[in-house]
Amino acid sequence: MSKFEEFEKLGGRGMLIKISKIFYDKIYEHPWIGLYFKDISQDVIESQQVDFMTGALGGDQIYLGKLPIPAHKHMFITNELFDLRQSLLSEALSEAGASEELKTKWLKIDEAFKSRLVKKDISECEKRFNTDEILAFDKVG
Ligand code: HEM
Repeated sequence: MSKFEEFEKLGGRGMLIKISKIFYDKIYEHPWIGLYFKDISQDVIESQQVDFMTGALGGDQIYLGKLPIPAHKHMFITNELFDLRQSLLSEALSEAGASEELKTKWLKIDEAFKSRLVKKDISECEKRFNTDEILAFDKVG
């Protein structure tokens, strides 16, 4: 099977759009993780996520944004916050009707970034540019 056929078998772009919408609805509604997204439009982040995951899941390489490590260096992401994101993602995958194969692949891709996105201390955060704000919020909810 070609890469394209495999990507289509997983549900293709339509499925990724559906999952991302359900996922970011949960993220934006959440009292804690939602704070990290307060200055970012949901439409923008959804489309970045769809493009990034398209490439990561074997579809076309259309993602033009930052790579995950430089994109998150100003965020204080703890283990607990990462695990919360993963549980919302897992719920979104199920609610969207993703196949077990897609669920496993997506969660594995995200998990692979965990050790590089999670920080032990806020001092490990770095601004991406001069006027950037370090994002760190105490647990709520
Ligand atoms: C708790 C963990 C995470 C939090 C709180 C988080 C939060 C965010 C936020 C707030 C942004 C917007 C950054 C900006 O444009 O200023 C962002 C961007 C992004 N995130 Fe995450 N993220 C997390 C984990 C992940 C993981 C595991 C992945 C996938 C590997 C990922 C992929 C992306 C991508 C592709 C972007 C777009 C970057 C860009 O356009 O420059 N994130 N994230």
